[in-house]
Amino acid sequence: MRRANPDLDPAASLLDLADEGSLRPRSFAEYVGQRRVVEKLEIYVAAARRRGEALDHCLFSGPPGLGKTSLAHVIAAELGTELHYTNGPALQRKGDLAGILTNLKPGDVLFIDEIHRLTPAVEESLYPAMEDFRFDIVIDSGPAARALRIDLPRFTLIGATTRTGLLASPLRDRFPIVERLDFYPVEELQQIVKRAARILRIEVDEEGAAEIARRSRGTPRIANRLLRRVRDFVQEEGGRIIDREGAARSLARLEVDEAGFDAMDRRLLLTIIDRFDGGPVGLETLAASIGEEKDTIEEVYEPFLLQEGYLVRTPRGRIATPKAYRHLGRAKSGSLL
Ligand SMILES: Nc1ncnc2c1ncn2[C@@H]1O[C@H](COP(=O)(O)OP(=O)(O)O)[C@@H](O)[C@H]1O
Ligand SMILES: [Mg+2]
Repeated sequence: MRRANPDLDPAASLLDLADEGSLRPRSFAEYVGQRRVVEKLEIYVAAARRRGEALDHCLFSGPPGLGKTSLAHVIAAELGTELHYTNGPALQRKGDLAGILTNLKPGDVLFIDEIHRLTPAVEESLYPAMEDFRFDIVIDSGPAARALRIDLPRFTLIGATTRTGLLASPLRDRFPIVERLDFYPVEELQQIVKRAARILRIEVDEEGAAEIARRSRGTPRIANRLLRRVRDFVQEEGGRIIDREGAARSLARLEVDEAGFDAMDRRLLLTIIDRFDGGPVGLETLAASIGEEKDTIEEVYEPFLLQEGYLVRTPRGRIATPKAYRHLGRAKSGSLL
């Protein structure tokens, strides 16, 4: 899923991945915000450690870039175990899963990103692995076929998905711990920007960090990316430290507005307002009108617009709110303005 403006794309690009490693928090203490979730996980991890058992399986959901992968890394580090990384699309056949499961050591974390994209066969073979720590395979075919049971060590499965609703309930129900990550408030994003600046040796003052934080759509990945882009602009202007004006100027040149909207956010809302008189307009129609995939609209663009009250979802479709009209400088038709 790509966003129109790559600097706002919460999906990780290859370019970011190098930095993303160095910026990833490595402990609960370094993981900024999401206190509601983190405080519970700290207790579960401490209890599992004390008992010398594997942590219960966890499912994390939330829009891209909010820290699901980071949280899985933190948990493995805090458990003192190894994290094995894979993702839904990479596990096409049962054999792919068998290979990974048989490599796990007791207490290890298996992280499956985009777990909603498993094939049904792989998903079904995951159930006994999660519940009874066994994996059943069939060797040979025809009359010679035999079922073979492999016993697995007790491990922790951590799944990540953009929305729990995308998961079949038999899979969802097998996760004792299910947590949703929320968009970050500006103060937390400001901390994240300052932390990234320290690590990347970028000079930014409080106000500069706050300006970047305000325009990051509640998303750490976007905050870190905007920090790097703003640094480029400020440096090219001959500046040494990112302050509020420098950040605001650079972000304007990146076409990121005060609300953190990029061209696609504006296009989406303006399409509803100008072509559909504010809505309601169905997702299919909207997707066709702006030339974007339905899934991308739902999983990448909409969550922030919904949370911030620019958009509402109704059974009859999407409606642009008065806040969206105001932000985009449009008057509601039929109003006297
Ligand atoms: N709570 C957090 N504290 C500090 N940095 C964070 C936090 N959450 C995410 N980040 C930063 O944002 C980047 C993207 O987070 P990631 O865990 O990959 O998101 P997701 O897996 O949900 O898409 C990370 O590399 C990290 O630098
Ligand atoms: Mg991730």
